[in-house]
Amino acid sequence: MVKKNTCIFISGKGSNLKNLIARSRDNSFPIKISLVVSNNKDAYGLNYAKKFKIPYLFINTKIKNYENKVLIYLKKYKISFICLAGFMKIISNTLINSYQKKIINIHPSLLPKFKGLNTYSRMLKNKEKKAGCTVHYVNKKLDSGNLIVQKEFIVNRKDDEKILKIKTQKLEYLAFPEAIIKIFRNT
Ligand code: GRF
Repeated sequence: MVKKNTCIFISGKGSNLKNLIARSRDNSFPIKISLVVSNNKDAYGLNYAKKFKIPYLFINTKIKNYENKVLIYLKKYKISFICLAGFMKIISNTLINSYQKKIINIHPSLLPKFKGLNTYSRMLKNKEKKAGCTVHYVNKKLDSGNLIVQKEFIVNRKDDEKILKIKTQKLEYLAFPEAIIKIFRNT
């Protein structure tokens, strides 16, 4: 199997990146992580890129046309697939147009519920009975692309934001790899 050269975009902790690096070391996993992009030069997740000798790029999204620099790197590393793993910036149309149906994102809610930020506090405020995570394609509307994998759990009355996050991320570590396998199953 020829693995797809993949770029992971991060902004912070990078625990999903860490999980995908671990999974991609398996020969039968469809992607190779060939590049990591971060919009935060202090993102803890960059340590995983360093540790596993994966090329990485810091991009200053405040600079005009920063996407063009990203595109140059994506080309340089022959990237054919992109995973947004906690990337806290809205991805631009330049990138979406260049990677139609080749960008996926993981979101900490049961989309279409709770698009955007602060999902856990909004869920608690709404007294949601179920929570979870969603892996979906990225299109031009925020958190609105087609769903690929969704995993849910029942919210306990005692769950606070911290616990919701722990429970959600535990499911994310299953959902993200599962979505990638699903996408490339028949290729
Ligand atoms: C994840 O919970 C994801 O759903 C959200 O950002 C978080 C990133 O966490 N989009 P990490 O950086 O992978 O630990």
